[in-house]
Amino acid sequence: MDHVVHDVLLVGGGGAGLRAALAVAETNPGLSVAVVSKVYPMRSHTVSAEGGAAAVVRPEDSLEAHAYDTISGGDWLCDQDAVEAFVREAPEEMVKLEHWGCPWSREPDGHIATRSFGGMKIERTWYAADKTGFHMLHALFQTTLSYPPIARYDEWFVTRLLVDEGRCQGVVAVELATGKIQALLAKAVIICSGGGGKVFRFTTNANIKTGDGMALAYRAGVPLKDMEFVQYHPTGLPFTGILITEAARSEGGWLLNKDGHRYLQDYDLGTPQPTPVKRSMELGPRDRLSQAFVGESQAGRAVSTPYGDVVHLDVRHLGEAAIDKKIPFVRELCLKYQKIDPVKEMIPVRPVVHYMMGGIQTDLEGATPLQGLFAAGEVACVSINGANRLGSNSLTELLVFGARAGRAAARFAASQADPSTALIAQAVDEERRLHRDFLDGSGGSERVSPLRNELQDALEEGAGIYRNEEGLRLAEERIRGLRDRFRRVGLDDRSRTFNTEFISALELANLLDLAEVILSSALARKESRGAHQRTDHPERDDDEYLAHTMAYRSDEGTPRIEFAPVTITKWPPGERVYGN
Ligand code: FUM
Repeated sequence: MDHVVHDVLLVGGGGAGLRAALAVAETNPGLSVAVVSKVYPMRSHTVSAEGGAAAVVRPEDSLEAHAYDTISGGDWLCDQDAVEAFVREAPEEMVKLEHWGCPWSREPDGHIATRSFGGMKIERTWYAADKTGFHMLHALFQTTLSYPPIARYDEWFVTRLLVDEGRCQGVVAVELATGKIQALLAKAVIICSGGGGKVFRFTTNANIKTGDGMALAYRAGVPLKDMEFVQYHPTGLPFTGILITEAARSEGGWLLNKDGHRYLQDYDLGTPQPTPVKRSMELGPRDRLSQAFVGESQAGRAVSTPYGDVVHLDVRHLGEAAIDKKIPFVRELCLKYQKIDPVKEMIPVRPVVHYMMGGIQTDLEGATPLQGLFAAGEVACVSINGANRLGSNSLTELLVFGARAGRAAARFAASQADPSTALIAQAVDEERRLHRDFLDGSGGSERVSPLRNELQDALEEGAGIYRNEEGLRLAEERIRGLRDRFRRVGLDDRSRTFNTEFISALELANLLDLAEVILSSALARKESRGAHQRTDHPERDDDEYLAHTMAYRSDEGTPRIEFAPVTITKWPPGERVYGN
């Protein structure tokens, strides 16, 4: 089998991967760095992020306030040492990005423009209109082009981590254009492949977000942390799930039920309190807003459509000029995908799965418990998001912790000998498995797409905004059945050139692992906290569950859940309080 050797290998070419690659190159220009990505980097999901990235910049703000909002928004499940590092390094990362070419929107006097975002009590969300992710990714990507040592494997899919003597030393990957299977060896590997929102049917996530990196690490024995916490974004388009950014509400949009009533005033989003800037109830935290939608729907006050219940997001009163200046992408998306013009019509929206708070367990430097393996971005859980991420923290997280992981991996790689050639035998085994199970198999009776649809339905129905023991157990049973059927999956396409059916089968295997972990973790946490709402355990229970779930893959291949302590530095658990 062919193999190549690099010093540091990035799995994933989105914001976290590119930021990490730059950090490696800056830390030690002598190292050879490679980015392996299943899509061309500019097609990574970071590109679709819209509303902005949080970092303290205004004089009335403070690192302490950003940390507190993040921790209380996360329902006290964040590791506070990670949050402190995050808020401290965030502003510097944002300025660096500007120097790399990110066109942050400005106030007329030239200062950085900020907008308020859900659960942030002070305006600290930097933005580039409502195409922030696109501009950030573009700035990072173009900067990587100026570093000759950063090699790229675009459109390669990683199927396995290579581990020898307790150390991760590379991956096996398939080149999509040719079907070639190859070992990519490295002294350090950083996984930055994003989350796995496609485990649910209605999601803002791109089709590529199938939890690949999480599944790779899990199968290599690394725990997945807090996977029961899946964030619903309150405003996605029905049917497509396309994100209508929180920026639309930040700029003054209202959420209305079928009677035209701003229903959020009827829900407890937290105790009102005076705040230094304009607040609105539409900027409550995402978990509470999504739960309020369920309340309206159950009370018959939502609007029913062929794609399920929706409420209306009304931005008409902002006027065409403001819409075109501040949220042009919202208008573009509505015109293209919903055939409505938000200047004149209300936007139908519903909560959709948006983000995974959980992920691969890492320390503050992005190191996982497996030597040589690092992770950053949505795929990782460091953990700054706790039980409920605040909107606009994730784009900044991928900068801060992408950079940290890159620096740490560079230092680690510089101290290591070349990868062991024993790994080639493992890679050959993996190639044989891929041929036996998929490419050369006799063709099983099951097909990928119905299995994937059933998996998404099982999660949507059993592990949605509200859960309970019975529903979670039922979903678990359905997933077990799907896993059995997956053993009989066959491909109709046996070609080697861009065989998307083959890749979808590998992605489905990853989704199955993720689904099992989410359900086991949700069953183990018998309380309600943030995005994890158990109707059979409706209260937060700090005595028992102020702890992270850690899902390990057992010898039988099923998840084994343990609990690990939450790091509390300065902010003891308290009540979540928001201004209306
Ligand atoms: O609504 C949004 O623009 C989403 C932002 C985020 O998830 O951080």
